Amino acid sequence: MVRLFASLKGLPVLAAASVFAGASLPTIPEDKTTPGQQRLAINGPNSMTLGWNTFQKLSRPCVKYGTSSDKLDKEACSTSSVTYPTSRTHANVVTLTGLAPATTYFYKIESTNSTVEHFFSPRTSGDKTPFTMNVVIDLGVYGADGFTIKQDERKRDTIPQIDPSLNHTTINQLAKTVDDYEFIVHPGDFAYADDWFLKPKNLFDGEDAFQAILEQFYTQLAPISGRKAYMASPGNHEAACQEIPFLTGLCPEGQKNFTDFMVRFGETMATAFPSTSATETAKVNANKARLLAKPPFWYSFEYGMVHFVMINTETDFEDAPDGPGVFGGLNSGPFGTPNQQLEFLEADLASVDRTVTPWLLIGGHRPWYSTGGKGCKPCQAAFEPLLYKYGVDLAIFGHVHNSQRFLPAFQDKADPNGYNDPKAPMYIVAGGAGNIEGLSSIGKNVSFNAFAYDDDFSYAQVRFLDAQNLQVDFVKSDTGELLDTSRLFKSHKEQFVVQA
Ligand SMILES: *[C@@H]1O[C@H](CO)[C@@H](O)[C@H](O)[C@H]1NC(C)=O
Ligand SMILES: *[C@@H]1O[C@H](CO)[C@@H](O)[C@H](O)[C@H]1NC(C)=O
Ligand SMILES: *[C@@H]1O[C@H](CO)[C@@H](O)[C@H](O)[C@H]1NC(C)=O
Ligand SMILES: *[C@@H]1O[C@H](CO)[C@@H](O)[C@H](O)[C@H]1NC(C)=O
Repeated sequence: MVRLFASLKGLPVLAAASVFAGASLPTIPEDKTTPGQQRLAINGPNSMTLGWNTFQKLSRPCVKYGTSSDKLDKEACSTSSVTYPTSRTHANVVTLTGLAPATTYFYKIESTNSTVEHFFSPRTSGDKTPFTMNVVIDLGVYGADGFTIKQDERKRDTIPQIDPSLNHTTINQLAKTVDDYEFIVHPGDFAYADDWFLKPKNLFDGEDAFQAILEQFYTQLAPISGRKAYMASPGNHEAACQEIPFLTGLCPEGQKNFTDFMVRFGETMATAFPSTSATETAKVNANKARLLAKPPFWYSFEYGMVHFVMINTETDFEDAPDGPGVFGGLNSGPFGTPNQQLEFLEADLASVDRTVTPWLLIGGHRPWYSTGGKGCKPCQAAFEPLLYKYGVDLAIFGHVHNSQRFLPAFQDKADPNGYNDPKAPMYIVAGGAGNIEGLSSIGKNVSFNAFAYDDDFSYAQVRFLDAQNLQVDFVKSDTGELLDTSRLFKSHKEQFVVQA
């Protein structure tokens, strides 16, 4: 959410003069090869990437891996160890290839101070085995620089290294249930580093505070994102050092134009998978999509029975809210040539063969359907026609800090079929994961809203039951309680959906 702090206009200037250090910068480990901020991603058929940060540049980042913890017989290395102005760390990436599908792999980042971890490799496109994907959006740092909550709840140590102070959070619930889902999508708003000025201690040390929040957040997330593929796309909080209108020009180099997001996830996210369809036009469209993809801003991947497309609701379409030249905006992008994102989206959606991947999902940050009048109109104008035309089944957004479920809808009207084989996409908002800005109240209702929850932190789970049935659950982060459940039936009779 964009927050206006007109009275704080002088702040970035003060903050630039970091005389009174107040930022909570984590302690630098003695062994600077110690890996931190681990993040896995689905990168291509039979391949995953692993990104991690170190407090020194690595000449040759390497990971050993294998299907048994005492036989890490494969090795992947790269020369990718990059940083940016204001960052204390280097981001390292390697690509693990030749993975057997749906298999537990053990891995060890090569370092004089690292341990063996494990992950589950991606399912092959077309595998119809049921699985669950979690949706977490608008998740920020927890603790002194972020949000805090205080109910008491017992912790089950499935992932033992979760910091005890995280024991009531979405991260803790993701840890407790780690065996119940196969990967996570997070379309935008990570860490909330640009909200550093909400804590008085940071006021005179903004530049460090911004980096400190990123380091803390990705350290808190690492037990999850180093165990499960964690698929990212951009939100407004990745754009600049703060969201104060007209002042992003004062952000230091390295803290504007999505720099950390791009360095952290640019090489780890997928582009688009080669088509496994037997149809020639599908292959042509998938190849076109690969050339037009711009990870981590827009891209797609396949996993079992789902084809998942990530879009960028921040820049790179007409009147994009964070684009350059937008009055009082965040002056970011473009990241592609004019129309590249929409051309990618059309080619990618057109390539989806429903006999291979019956489910077609899209993830983005800003919703156009939301209670409280919080929809993004330019986003709707740019993306909605394509989603309808190619029969997207479920569209996932955040940005508004609560949970919402809608009936399938097109052009602000509910689909007459409801959840029983609609032509229009079903929409959800899953922005309640928890951050320093707190929850957004539901506000004014929308006629085709079916569920809304703003009492406590929450996130969503999407269960792919079979080729025709999908279930969406909303879960209360603190207790794991099921808040809402719904089923979408799609007949998926057509191999390539094109609707007028
Ligand atoms: C080794 O790693 C652990 C955990 O990541 C860290 O707490 C410790 O300080 C590191 N040791 C050295 C010598 O840097
Ligand atoms: C959860 O964390 C809080 C704050 O750190 C702590 O006071 C409480 O004892 C913890 N509860 C459990 C069950 O670990
Ligand atoms: C942001 O970065 C992109 C890609 O590096 C670049 O093309 C664009 O011009 C930058 N935008 C601004 C406003 O600096
Ligand atoms: C919004 O209105 C619909 C239809 O009247 C209703 O089913 C739904 O529960 C309402 N949602 C909220 C959050 O009040």
